[in-house]
Amino acid sequence: MGRKITIEPITRIEGHGKVTIHLDDAGKVSQSRFHIVEFRGFEKFIQGRPYWEAPVLVQRLCGICPVSHHLASAKAVDIIVGVGPDGLTATAEKMRRLMHYGQMFQSHALHFFHLVSPDLLFGADADPAIRNIIGVALKHKDLAVQGVLMRKFGQELIEVTAGKKIHGTGAIPGGINKNLSPEERDRFLKGPDPYNADHMVAWAQGALDFFKDYHSKNKAWIDGFADFPSNYLSLVRKDGALDFYHGPLRAVDAQGRKVLPDVDYRDYLDHIGEEVRSWSYMKFPYLKKLGKAEGWYRVGPLARLNTCDFVPTPLAQKEFETFKAYTKGKPNGMSLHSHWARLIELLHAGEVIRDLLKDKDLQGPNLVKKGTKTHNGVGLVEAPRGTLFHHYQVDDNDQITMANLIVSTTNNNEPMNRAVHWVADNVLAGQKEITEGMMNRVEIAIRAYDPCLSCATHALGTMPLEVTLVDDRGKDIDCRRR
Ligand code: MG
Ligand code: NI
Repeated sequence: MGRKITIEPITRIEGHGKVTIHLDDAGKVSQSRFHIVEFRGFEKFIQGRPYWEAPVLVQRLCGICPVSHHLASAKAVDIIVGVGPDGLTATAEKMRRLMHYGQMFQSHALHFFHLVSPDLLFGADADPAIRNIIGVALKHKDLAVQGVLMRKFGQELIEVTAGKKIHGTGAIPGGINKNLSPEERDRFLKGPDPYNADHMVAWAQGALDFFKDYHSKNKAWIDGFADFPSNYLSLVRKDGALDFYHGPLRAVDAQGRKVLPDVDYRDYLDHIGEEVRSWSYMKFPYLKKLGKAEGWYRVGPLARLNTCDFVPTPLAQKEFETFKAYTKGKPNGMSLHSHWARLIELLHAGEVIRDLLKDKDLQGPNLVKKGTKTHNGVGLVEAPRGTLFHHYQVDDNDQITMANLIVSTTNNNEPMNRAVHWVADNVLAGQKEITEGMMNRVEIAIRAYDPCLSCATHALGTMPLEVTLVDDRGKDIDCRRR
């Protein structure tokens, strides 16, 4: 008789979801699924609302990712007011960039220090009672302190550019509602150590060096865990550089060939389809050119470093070269290398923030532009977790009649399922007893993708995740809810 394993909730993941793994009589994996258990339909909720409210309203989608939604929405609305996608003033675009890179910095710092470092410091088999941030704080106080302060630095950048840490109103249709005063700038640029941009760059480099040292001593597990080929999707800057805020959309395959060659993201519907499967509320996006079976792709830090040609800041570029050399220039499909990629991005975000703060355009007086209204707007950003799409249609009364969102976590749906399947096949299959350490590996696979299940459900608040072991008659054998 076969078995089914359920894990719910998955700890140290943002939001609630569920993993089920079916093992047949021989203990072979017959099916594994990672899915969300609820869907709240934010796309319907904003219909009928005036478009200018969207950049503020959409922040209610998710308490974890409000800034990403705010900016993707604002970019869609820029097009509706006739100034997007390339018409913002230098001050407006740079203020939004500062907000966005501040968000990237705080989110990547939180993910590494709070969510991932316990797995690295204590190992996958450690007791969950110590394998958490409290354990890190007790044993590695310096790392925990850095994590807290780096996160604070990013959050305060958001506060000063968006007006508030959450539910800010900084980005408005066609621009931004404030610039950065010299006093505000100097808090981040010239603050006493360690609270300044130079120190944040040094700490980001330190976190990256910590990971590289760990990797050099643990190559078998970091390289061999959930390594599989895929396509990769992200925005890139027009010249092919890594960029989180704006540029054409690019996808490469497992060999690094451009399967989507720098297209205008406003045409995303020509290039990206979403498959619905009966067992999950989360859709399965794919590249139409390659079809449903072959067209699934990864987004996020690993994808971005696989799609871009270079990183436009010196310290992160040097690290990018080492990262690329590791796979001889080919795309990197190793799930746990997303942590490496994320830390290169953390360093890059720190460098960009430091350079942006020195840019006089942030004190410029021209904040908003006006244009001729249109009825259709598409906005994209590279959120910390990957490509985020917002698309609205509005009528002559300025009301939103259609909203379509594809969030980062949904883009990573198939890859997360593949990663879970890898663990089921390689760690759980054939085992008589499922240990805590084995369950942890399922979570570690999912955590590599830093999913936000709150976003994925399009929820109006925070959502609480489940692994179940089921037999071939559908009977639950083992279930974990933590
Ligand atoms: Mg959607
Ligand atoms: Ni979210």
